[in-house]
Amino acid sequence: MLAIGRLAPMQRHVYHDGSNRASQLASMAQFKDGSDTMTEYLWWQTGIIYQIYPRSFMDSDGDGTGDLKGIHSRLDYLEWLRVDAIWLSPVFPSPMADFGYDVANYVDIDPLFGTLADFDRLLQEAHQRGMKVLLDLVPNHSSDEHPWFQESRASRDSAKRDWYIWRDPAPDGGVPNNWHSYFGGSAWAFDETTGQYYLHLFHRKQPDLNWRNPAVRRAIYDAMRFWLDRGVDGFRVDVIWLLLKDEQFRDNPVNPNWKEGDMPGDQYQSVHTADLPEVHEIVREMRQVLDQYAERVMIGEIYLPVPRLMMYYGAAHDEAHLPFNFQLITLPWNARTIREAVDTYEAALPGGGWPNWVLGNHDQHRIASRVGPEQARIAQMLLLTLRGTPTCYYGDEIGMHDVDIPVERIQDPQGKHSPAHSRDPERSPMQWDSSPNAGFTTGVPWLPIADDYVTNNVEAQRDDATSMLALFRRLVDLRRTMPALSIGSQRSIDTSSDEVFAYLREHGNQRVLIILNFGGESQDLDLSSVSVSGRVLCTTYMDSDDNLNLGYLTLRPNEGIAIAV
Ligand code: GLC
Ligand code: MG
Repeated sequence: MLAIGRLAPMQRHVYHDGSNRASQLASMAQFKDGSDTMTEYLWWQTGIIYQIYPRSFMDSDGDGTGDLKGIHSRLDYLEWLRVDAIWLSPVFPSPMADFGYDVANYVDIDPLFGTLADFDRLLQEAHQRGMKVLLDLVPNHSSDEHPWFQESRASRDSAKRDWYIWRDPAPDGGVPNNWHSYFGGSAWAFDETTGQYYLHLFHRKQPDLNWRNPAVRRAIYDAMRFWLDRGVDGFRVDVIWLLLKDEQFRDNPVNPNWKEGDMPGDQYQSVHTADLPEVHEIVREMRQVLDQYAERVMIGEIYLPVPRLMMYYGAAHDEAHLPFNFQLITLPWNARTIREAVDTYEAALPGGGWPNWVLGNHDQHRIASRVGPEQARIAQMLLLTLRGTPTCYYGDEIGMHDVDIPVERIQDPQGKHSPAHSRDPERSPMQWDSSPNAGFTTGVPWLPIADDYVTNNVEAQRDDATSMLALFRRLVDLRRTMPALSIGSQRSIDTSSDEVFAYLREHGNQRVLIILNFGGESQDLDLSSVSVSGRVLCTTYMDSDDNLNLGYLTLRPNEGIAIAV
């Protein structure tokens, strides 16, 4: 066991669920230096998170849409993959205008996905296998079919009127201000019944809740407790940085850089609709709800520049455990940019703040399509060897790529408004095997399946020692068994090539050097300053000799190597 050094005093705390252990705050206190002073790390620090988009993972009943029993039937696979936690995109009752991100009841399961009993079974069995389960909390907006909104819209003096954001028309009868929906068009929808507009930063079927109203806060916190009491291990909180809007409803400034074809939501700078200083009070309150339970995690979906992002850890480590770090998605893919991003992010982390990295999600084109199949292997090695919790998007472990969807088959509301920005391509069904519909469903899949599924699927890659899946498993294995990779420090190493990003992970005497070739040419390197030789742990080619001379090292095109030095 490691020695206790400069560890903050352990705070004992009795949790809601009766357990009693060192508080998360105390045990987080000294992570940044990665030294031997820690006695314990929490599961969400050493673990790997795997995102499941439930509609697309596994269908159990032949209706063409994935469901909870389907996920249940694939627990063997998830256990074999050795991911530590699964995060499920929303499974709550929903009219599915935004595929579950429009919640009509925060405390139940949509019949499309199953029942509460199915959920409890899934949770229980995941726990038995040592896997955590995270849910997606969608607090910014509900569905317009939620009883809260139904009541709110019924009359101007409804008891729930103030649960949503209602405004009179402008003097000319038009929208109250220039706020825009992320899906395109005005964020205001006129409601005939009461002659006012309501705000929706997303679809018009997703009215924004009024987070300035304490009753709204209480209602969502109650919903959180409903799931935490059932044993859920935490939440990924949807658009947490958007929860509050300007109280004076001032217009947003026009974004001078926006051009036709860019994301519709970027047409204005969201200074009055995003990242308001007061939002941190809410994030802190949510965290307090979680902290009543042991070892739960709160992840915030936040698209912001790094300095703003860091604020969501909280001045006293009292906000999100993991404000999602999307830089591997949003930045151009080249060695110099990525190195800079890693260094800047590491330097910007508040003391005690635990890093995290994300390669893909249900809103972004798949990594294999963004950077190509060869670089997708580099990306996977990067994600699984960087310091900080990795989040993997289902299917990326077999290198699934985007699927072209004909315009008339577009499902995504964002894509319906602007086909170029459809998110359907990255939501295609999981490719399990070479049987019809890739083993995903016996019915008609809700989105087309990639046409390479006959050769590119889990079953085929399982038996191929050089496959992406084999690489993924090898990297997971290394991460799980080598403290240098799971909890070690991180330091970039200079090399003579602009195409190469190299870094060292260290813990105690254990040192792992990772060298990634972001280019399609081979690279000759001299890394003898790090070590004269080293033992190869893994290459993205899944071959290679055991020992290397680091003075004369040739990286093959698109090759990544992890070396014990
Ligand atoms: C988040 C979700 C996205 C959804 C939006 C509105 O960005 O990831 O899928 O459309 O919020 O809830
Ligand atoms: Mg189904």
